[in-house]
Amino acid sequence: AISQKVDQLLKQMTIEEKVGQLNQYTGKALTGPASEKKNDLQTEIVNGWVGSMLNVKGVKNTREVQAMALKSRLKIPLLFGLDVIHGYEVTFPIPLAEAASWDLGAIKQAAHVAAEEAAASGIHWTFAPMVDIARDPRWGRIMEGAGEDPYLGSLIARARVKGFQGEKLGGTDAVMACAKHFAAYGAAIAGRDYAAVEMSDHELWQTYLPPFKAAAEAGVATFMNSFNTLNGIPATGNSYLQRDILKNKWNYNGFIVSDWNSIGEMSIWGYANDLKDAAEKAIIAGSDMDMEGSAYRKHLVQLVKEGKVAVALIDDAVKRILYKKFELGLFDDPYKFSDEKREQKVIKNPKNRTIARAMARKSIVLLKNDADLLPLAKTAQTIAVIGPLAKAKRDMAGSWIVNADTVSTVSLYEGLSAAVGKNQKLLFAGAGTALSSTDAEIAEAVATARQADVVVLALGETWDMSGESKSRADIHLPGDQVKLFEAIQKTGKPIIVTLMAGRPMIFNEIADKAAAILYTWWLGSEAGNAISDVIFGNYNPSAKLPVTFPRAMGQIPIYYGQTNTGRPYTNQKNKLYLSVYIDEENTPRYAFGYGLSYTKFSYSDLKLSKSEITDADSVVLSFKLTNTGKYAGEEVAQLYLRDEVASIVRPLKELKDFAKVLLKPGESKLISFVINKEKLSFYNKDLKWITEPGVFQVMLGSSSDQILLQSKFTLTR
Ligand code: IFM
Repeated sequence: AISQKVDQLLKQMTIEEKVGQLNQYTGKALTGPASEKKNDLQTEIVNGWVGSMLNVKGVKNTREVQAMALKSRLKIPLLFGLDVIHGYEVTFPIPLAEAASWDLGAIKQAAHVAAEEAAASGIHWTFAPMVDIARDPRWGRIMEGAGEDPYLGSLIARARVKGFQGEKLGGTDAVMACAKHFAAYGAAIAGRDYAAVEMSDHELWQTYLPPFKAAAEAGVATFMNSFNTLNGIPATGNSYLQRDILKNKWNYNGFIVSDWNSIGEMSIWGYANDLKDAAEKAIIAGSDMDMEGSAYRKHLVQLVKEGKVAVALIDDAVKRILYKKFELGLFDDPYKFSDEKREQKVIKNPKNRTIARAMARKSIVLLKNDADLLPLAKTAQTIAVIGPLAKAKRDMAGSWIVNADTVSTVSLYEGLSAAVGKNQKLLFAGAGTALSSTDAEIAEAVATARQADVVVLALGETWDMSGESKSRADIHLPGDQVKLFEAIQKTGKPIIVTLMAGRPMIFNEIADKAAAILYTWWLGSEAGNAISDVIFGNYNPSAKLPVTFPRAMGQIPIYYGQTNTGRPYTNQKNKLYLSVYIDEENTPRYAFGYGLSYTKFSYSDLKLSKSEITDADSVVLSFKLTNTGKYAGEEVAQLYLRDEVASIVRPLKELKDFAKVLLKPGESKLISFVINKEKLSFYNKDLKWITEPGVFQVMLGSSSDQILLQSKFTLTR
């Protein structure tokens, strides 16, 4: 029925009105003081030349701007889009941190809370989730995705889409999601944002496309293309990506929005002569909506008149957009998402912060815990809280916050203050607010540490060091924070380092010498409470790294799913003519899937239901997981497979399943995984998703480099 309504409406539209639907502007000026820009925008909307606005938020503002659209001839409502990436007012951990939880239910719920708040604030559409695989921590936007792995990335993509969109589009507690950036944006050469991407088709299909496919299959309402080129062709003008793969092969019927002026940027790349040429290339390649580029608005009507662009192409794009407006219910009630009472109620709902705190705790990775220093007992002791990020609030929110109230963000110091027992004392030394301390600041920090029994040292990146356009050529802990650490370390006091960052960093001295390390990323509104929950043992850490941490810059890109070489290094004494670095180890500092708990787990009794299967069959693998330690805790048990011989060399390990299991001390559970054809398939050289007969290695473990149980089976025809 919606398609009929769309067709009827389309029949009434002039070509200008059609092009208007493909046009999206940023609306900051519209809600600001009177200005020429404000007037111009208003005129465009009233004339029906705008289909969507971004960056207009709040019930009052969205109502005001929607009213302008309803003055247009056909009264087609606007779509309001916004970058609701990790929370709206209540800020959740950055997406990479959430991915470390490996908790799909929690991730879905976090996205849903963000959607509830945004939808109550007049927003229809978030430009999230970012599902770009990222294997280069120099790239600042690694913080926005789910890390390096296509399997985990696909599951998280699905969870986030479902969380943002709810069960069915149109609920006022949900928004349309947007799978971005299509495609391969995370593989920018040398990790520099907006740079070119050169990649084999096989790598594209095997590694970079799966999370997009998962998002499409999960019903994501929209896609966003990307700023990069892929093998010389800008993604925005790339019909192989947008038409051949997405719209034709995957039968995707949502719409594709460009990235911010990415149509215009095609001429800067040297792929289009000018804006008009870019508009022609983009629409032909399948970009449906032009974000803030004015290329379509300025040139599409003329391009149609000149016969360079078929009206059918425009009609197809318009239909896709109108369809979503109908699905959201905006034609029935254009102000459906703009209810002031609901806005107040939903945004101030205290449950949102409770959920944010739970998500934040689940995102903290325990990297080191010598002599079980953590959790800290609530016995009488003095705790020195030191470091430039110890009282930070804004930094805890990270990049991409659109409406966050950072004043109410809980700093580490505040979180610890609220949690310490009566007989415990907190001392504080900021050691400067910049990431470099003066000698006097270091001396004061050392003096403070000397008065304490234990030190909590908050180090890392400030919020503006990771995120869009925040690539770093050197991902070592910035400033001279290592100097601060080493000075405190000389006091002999045990140090718990909390590393707060938007990406993996390199911090070898700390990894070697600190007693305990928590990688806390940027955890959002409830950061300090969540970290103190972990420090005092109210929550037993269960997160595992979704991305590999290198030990040296020269190892980048480093990721677990590499293939073998013809000259593998397997700890031979003589490294000559083997695939090694002569000045560094091959192994990462911390592997994908790594993360400790306050308790210990043992893996035993691996059984495979069969040793030989065909494509029609499956193997059921079972094993016993036991909590052998003193605390209740959750383990993420990970299943990796290797296809030993194939027509394309397959990775040494590929994650194919995992289970996050809660066990009481002494408790055991039998866990099982089903290995079927889907898990054994790969893209061959003709990009066909197939299996090939042969031997498969089965590896079960607590991280990609801690394989605890192994077996094999054979796939036959
Ligand atoms: O959604 C973003 C995108 O990820 C980067 N460029 C701007 C868009 C809208 O703000």
